[in-house]
Amino acid sequence: MSTADRIQTIAVLTSGGDAPGMNAAIRAVVRTALSKGKKVKGIKQGYWGLLNEKIIDMQGTDVSNTIQTGGTILGTARCPEFRTVEGQQLGAEICRKHGIDGLVVIGGDGSYAGAQKLAGLGINTIGLPGTIDLDIACTEYTIGFDTAINTAMEAIDKVRDTSTSHERCSIIEVMGRSAGYIALWCGIANGAEDILLPEKYDYDEQKLINNIISNRKKGKKHHIIINAEGIGHSTSMARRIEAATGVETRATILGHMQRGGSPTCRDRFVASIMGAYAVDLLCEGKTKRVVAYRDGEYVDYDIDEALAMKKTINEYEYEVAKMLSR
Ligand code: ADP
Ligand code: F6P
Repeated sequence: MSTADRIQTIAVLTSGGDAPGMNAAIRAVVRTALSKGKKVKGIKQGYWGLLNEKIIDMQGTDVSNTIQTGGTILGTARCPEFRTVEGQQLGAEICRKHGIDGLVVIGGDGSYAGAQKLAGLGINTIGLPGTIDLDIACTEYTIGFDTAINTAMEAIDKVRDTSTSHERCSIIEVMGRSAGYIALWCGIANGAEDILLPEKYDYDEQKLINNIISNRKKGKKHHIIINAEGIGHSTSMARRIEAATGVETRATILGHMQRGGSPTCRDRFVASIMGAYAVDLLCEGKTKRVVAYRDGEYVDYDIDEALAMKKTINEYEYEVAKMLSR
């Protein structure tokens, strides 16, 4: 039997925080697998759904009219039980029970760790980078990031309008659990006066205060500070800054609106290619791999290697962001 023939049934799940473009990835997995004559199963609500056997058969029409939609048609969840050895063993048993020969996991680093454990228990797994945070070290692109930064950018432009009219300072908190990529990109794209990134922040509020006062003296009517969620505390920061500068200061936390909405063309496009790539890998007999985009190419890495990689903020981009805000 050829390697491709050994894989008869491919399943797909989405896990962790949802991200726009996940549906394009699911669609690509489903249709690529069907085109290769495989059966396809969808697992609802991530690893929770696996442990609770929320498993459905999927046909090509099940993913019709989904590529343009936000969220994930399979649902997603965070599942603490899957972090335990018992949970992982149960997950592997359920995969075997349902005849799942290969599993595509769409999510972030945490979801990859789950796929790594399943692979160790003999289930063929492939990870796809699905997170708005762009915080997966092995890849320059994660599904959802492009939509999230465009959503955040438009929202920040709107806050800037009212902030300028009232001559206020605005602290706008964007998502990013411990990563400042959304803040960095919007910082540049929205022309923010200050950008606070968890990877770089020195907790020196006096610098922010001095900057606001000096910009006021120059005649600037607004002062936009983009603060990453990983630093947080935007509301209390706003209170302290207002007290120290005398400039009315408001905090706006953009929150989950950044995770929703119709995916951009780039998110749909790359998610589609990556979904197809994941199925190709499984059919070539590969397991414990993650798909990545690097130096203009789609590539794949062993999950151990991918999880061991570290990602840092690009120094040049950060320096340019600071220079342009002055
Ligand atoms: P993301 O995948 O976006 O990083 P999480 O870190 O919340 O999101 O992880 C998603 C899910 O992956 C968790 O709820 C859990 O079920 C599973 N997971 C996370 N870390 C591990 C781990 N070390 N071992 C096994 N499963 C894990
Ligand atoms: O991982 C994506 C993300 O949106 C992070 O930016 C954020 O910290 C987290 O998920 C929020 O998770 P939840 O939806 O569980 O509050």
